[in-house]
Amino acid sequence: MKVRSVKEGDTEVLVPIPEEGANFAPSAAPVFFNPVMEMNRDISIAATSAFLNRMEPDPEKTITYVDALSASGIRGLRVANEIGIHTTLNDWSEDACELIKQNIEKLGIDDHTIASHKNANVLLHEKHFNIVDLDPFGTPAPFLAAASRSVINLLEVTATDTAPLCGAHLNSGIRKYAALPFNNEYHSEMGVRILLGKIARELSLYDKAMFPLLSHATRHYVRTYLHIRKGAKQADKMLKKLGFIAQCECGNRETKYGLAAHIGDTCSLCGKKTIIAGPLWLGDLHEPQFCNETIEELELRSCGTKEMSVKMLEFCRDELNIPMFYDQHLICKKLGVSASAINILITELKNNGFRASRTHFSGTSFKTDAKLQDIERIIVDIR
Ligand SMILES: C[S@@+](CC[C@H](N)C(=O)[O-])C[C@H]1O[C@@H](n2cnc3c(N)ncnc32)[C@H](O)[C@@H]1O
Ligand SMILES: [Zn+2]
Repeated sequence: MKVRSVKEGDTEVLVPIPEEGANFAPSAAPVFFNPVMEMNRDISIAATSAFLNRMEPDPEKTITYVDALSASGIRGLRVANEIGIHTTLNDWSEDACELIKQNIEKLGIDDHTIASHKNANVLLHEKHFNIVDLDPFGTPAPFLAAASRSVINLLEVTATDTAPLCGAHLNSGIRKYAALPFNNEYHSEMGVRILLGKIARELSLYDKAMFPLLSHATRHYVRTYLHIRKGAKQADKMLKKLGFIAQCECGNRETKYGLAAHIGDTCSLCGKKTIIAGPLWLGDLHEPQFCNETIEELELRSCGTKEMSVKMLEFCRDELNIPMFYDQHLICKKLGVSASAINILITELKNNGFRASRTHFSGTSFKTDAKLQDIERIIVDIR
């Protein structure tokens, strides 16, 4: 396998060069490497470090991190090199594991970094780790049970199967997540909430609860950072944040909490039949203070996507934790009026006594606690 050196953050890593004439898709290389995921990894380093800053320092205890699906190891190698905690880099591919070993040696971090050559599910069932990172091809679903069992403090998950998560590949999404999504203007947020709903149900098997610190949908993937606590009562409380969304073609939507929720099938606004998505996560997606702490870490560190990452995290920090954003253009189309600048609409919503914010999910969208009739009245009044 031909390799080249790339530098991300403060870490220089050997990654594969695709064979000449071969398909250039990262997944076609003997060992996977996708430079486009640098932002995902930059935020990961900052978020992991921000989380560790919150943990009580205990010189007696070693904090352990596992990159369960490592490929070249770039993600975990950066954790080991830039944060310095005890790191396990695992991949079941022989080529990947060889490359990981070379990278560990080249970086001189073998005192706190180990290469592991196992099925990720076997490793995660064998051992508990303080921090578990899942960064698979496509769906993380096959690894969630083992990761939920293994994790002690922080679970970090990427999903790149946005089409199943968002309802574009409906049956595949139902099979992987045992939930029904739908594919409309807020499909990106739908994907995040379907994934979080599935993770919550997996964690509850082990009497564990999750507290989302940061969750974002960027380009073709979803990424989430979940603080984990053990306790049956906390898990019960977490499950109460699962529920359903009833959506009407008029734009009205209603959330219903609970796994056995009573969901009427007609819209309370226009009486038409609604469609239902769920079960999904209706709780918070972020903790604003954690977003700030991650931004501070990004500012301190050298990373290639700093500007973009900070901007995105500021949007996450400032967006209301209310399920499902509205798209201004869609409402304007229905009303037959032109859209105004999104900040003008948000100011007007606030002037009318509602909470309102922009959202990291989309530049033309907003979150609010106003009902659809009020939103429409305010949009028309702006004209
Ligand atoms: C998307 S790549 C990981 C990318 C890497 N985390 C990064 O940031 O560049 C997924 C990796 O998972 C490995 N893999 C897939 N299924 C596995 C399993 N059941 N156990 C261990 N490794 C697995 C593949 O060999 C591949 O290298
Ligand atoms: Zn309706």
